[in-house]
Amino acid sequence: MNVLIVGSGGREHALAWKIAQSPLVEKIYTAPGNGGTALLGENVAIGDDDVKGLVSFAKKHDVGLVVAGPELPLTRGLANAMHDAKIPCFGPTEYCAQLEGSKSFAKQVMLETGVPTAHFAVFEDFAQAKDFIEETGAPLVIKADGLAAGKGVAVCQSVQEALFELEQSMVHKRFGTAGEKIVVEEMLGGEEVSFLAFCDGERIAAMPSSQDHKAVGEGDTGPNTGGMGAFSPAHILPEDAYQDMAELVLLPIVRHMKNKGHPFVGVLYAGLMVSSDGPKVLEYNVRFGDPECQPLLMRLDTDLVEIMLACCKGRLDQVDIRWKPQTALCVVMSAEGYPGGYAKGMRITGIDEAEADSACKVFVAGAQRDEDGWLVSTGGRVLGVTALGDDLTDARGRAYSAVGKISFAHSYCRRDIGEKGLKWESEGENK
Ligand code: AMP
Ligand code: GLY
Repeated sequence: MNVLIVGSGGREHALAWKIAQSPLVEKIYTAPGNGGTALLGENVAIGDDDVKGLVSFAKKHDVGLVVAGPELPLTRGLANAMHDAKIPCFGPTEYCAQLEGSKSFAKQVMLETGVPTAHFAVFEDFAQAKDFIEETGAPLVIKADGLAAGKGVAVCQSVQEALFELEQSMVHKRFGTAGEKIVVEEMLGGEEVSFLAFCDGERIAAMPSSQDHKAVGEGDTGPNTGGMGAFSPAHILPEDAYQDMAELVLLPIVRHMKNKGHPFVGVLYAGLMVSSDGPKVLEYNVRFGDPECQPLLMRLDTDLVEIMLACCKGRLDQVDIRWKPQTALCVVMSAEGYPGGYAKGMRITGIDEAEADSACKVFVAGAQRDEDGWLVSTGGRVLGVTALGDDLTDARGRAYSAVGKISFAHSYCRRDIGEKGLKWESEGENK
């Protein structure tokens, strides 16, 4: 069959790379794709949020499966439109996508289903929000309700800071309409972990745990980014805890959506804060994480297309999903300055040398091929250099050694991806 992947980042290159390994697949189209997906099929010049354009392309090119990478098209009804056109779509409907598209919706669902999460209040009125913040005191977290390209959350250490963020969002409309409504939340301490599952509307199949590195700087300093690196498994959520965690934070949501008449199909992603008080959900996403997708798919040992089709058919019970026992780790190479301003158009070399280690795969994020076939940077996050290893130390060594072989002007990466896992491992061993 022909598969249409929607999106253009490192996650989408990883999806295309894994999907290309399926004997079920004839041709892969990626809309709009990047310099990595270009070599695995055909990139088509349709924006990832152009729902109409995507449906008409899928109809015309006999697409048998649509795979949604990012959240935006899902919140705009991509899955609904594909269902109307009788084309299987791996990704949830508009109703379910509100779990990511509206923080207040997600909080309300968590409240109704008893999923542990931070205490919160929702405001649409600036004066009321201001009073609440002044009464409550710091620290607290201010979140724009809608999608804000990962920039809508501010962890505030003082009331003054919180009021500044509030004003930016509600009065100055820094996030447009997305920030007219806000969620004020209790600040939680602990360590973050990502827990994702394939969902078929009724059943789920949990993936191994993974851990992202959101801050741009080493030691989790500086502004938040889309993610500077990730590894799987994450030691703070070990395999023997997956079942209980799925019961606590994933299954209640899937059951709730089904009861509401909107079965959740696709990937449900819980972003968790784990502390001595137990786990609490920070957010839900309705898609693979980027970069978590890269190490997860390196570990997946089953045909991804088979899994996705089973999800679309509500038959997840018919696939046996296997994961490699190894550890995978992804280091994001970005353009210096990201997530602020950065240069573009840098020529990238050394990918073949990096991939000479067969345990290493370089996923293209923000880069395209120029007329001569050179890979040239076009985005902030440029590459996701990913390696599989016997353990975290091995995976990390391979990934950083591959990073050392790649070069482009003004490149930057965090040198401490996976370090928390190493520390945890050695502390764990000392116990
Ligand atoms: P979110 O998009 O809701 O996951 O928020 C982005 C990031 O902000 C998270 O990955 C956390 O690092 C941080 N964050 C969000 N909510 C909280 C909270 N209640 N307490 C502490 N940090 C938070
Ligand atoms: N890596 C975090 C996210 O995809 O939201």
